[in-house]
Amino acid sequence: MVDLPPLRHPLVAAPMAGGPSTPRLVAAVGQAGGLGFLAAGYRRPEQVGEEIRQVRQLTGASFGVNVLLPGAARATEAEIAAYAATLRPDAQRLDVALGEPVADDDHLDEKIDLLCQERVPVVSFAFGLPTGATVERLHAAGTCVLVTVTTPDEAVAAAETGADGVVAQGIEAGGHRGGFTDRVGVGEYGLLTLLRLVARVSRLPVVAAGGLMDGHSVAAALTAGATAAQLGTAFLRCPEAGTNPVHRAVLGGSRETVVTRAFTGRRARSIVNGFASRQSTVPPPAAYPHVHRLTAPLRRAAVAAGDTETASLWAGQGHALIRELPAGELVRQLAAETHTALAATRHPPGG
Ligand SMILES: Cc1cc2nc3c(=O)[nH]c(=O)nc-3n(C[C@H](O)[C@H](O)[C@H](O)COP(=O)(O)O)c2cc1C
Repeated sequence: MVDLPPLRHPLVAAPMAGGPSTPRLVAAVGQAGGLGFLAAGYRRPEQVGEEIRQVRQLTGASFGVNVLLPGAARATEAEIAAYAATLRPDAQRLDVALGEPVADDDHLDEKIDLLCQERVPVVSFAFGLPTGATVERLHAAGTCVLVTVTTPDEAVAAAETGADGVVAQGIEAGGHRGGFTDRVGVGEYGLLTLLRLVARVSRLPVVAAGGLMDGHSVAAALTAGATAAQLGTAFLRCPEAGTNPVHRAVLGGSRETVVTRAFTGRRARSIVNGFASRQSTVPPPAAYPHVHRLTAPLRRAAVAAGDTETASLWAGQGHALIRELPAGELVRQLAAETHTALAATRHPPGG
């Protein structure tokens, strides 16, 4: 077992692939006493290596790197092709070719080699279970290993691989569902319920994620048994985050969020827009990363064109509560609020 590094504040900035998690964001969170995370998903191993070096140049604080495990399509090629046909009008409008709907392993083995070589303090996995051998190699490099879970059964399976803790992701969370399967009706627990169900079956430390936007909800997660709270959406408007301008502009408004496969073929929570909620006779197929590859050029073109109706707008249910603050200041405010909320809970009015 490798323990989580000691933290001044029990606050983790979630890994956010696709741009938001920059070395500057990770370093600012670490400097302020939280734990920052790089997102290795969709990045080449040499880019990840460069980002690790940049973090280390900026801070001596601990940090984590998140790895997305490869997916497998359940949908057929014909279903993927039928869905691709429904995207052509959008592609024509934005004057871009759709991507190839092919699978790859996102350079998994090279990334694990790199993380072992770099002796990264914390590595978290999403979309499945690392092998016991991978966990052992990371332990030998002194790395604390976390596995993202969305059900109590997944927490039990994570413990069996030798992992040191779990990230319990509630249905409120922004971005992809991080659990082992992508089936509708599996892993759809609200965060507080999930925390209590996981505590019943596992003694591993739990990092709570999903919809946490301020110290009040962080205090609730800690009270429900979490060791730390992982916030993603809350950091998306920090100046250090690499969030694109289209995404930044829609965050904090009154639009609701929805879980959809439309963008990537795997369920993910986005702010509602035309692409996420359009009605079609062809439902988005369960095919990740195929649909991710298919729509990536379209989503990039949408960002370049300032098109909020076609871009993926990952956000948790609480995004209206977002603050636009430097990351270090946000960590300090969250920590102070958590402290106040926990003290109020210990001394309830009239209690
Ligand atoms: C823009 C964005 C990108 C994300 N990318 C990743 C990722 O690469 N790996 C991962 O494990 N989780 C990813 N997540 C999910 C977060 O780890 C976390 O579960 C989630 O942000 C928590 O919910 P919140 O956004 O309401 O705080 C992402 C979330 C967002 C909002």
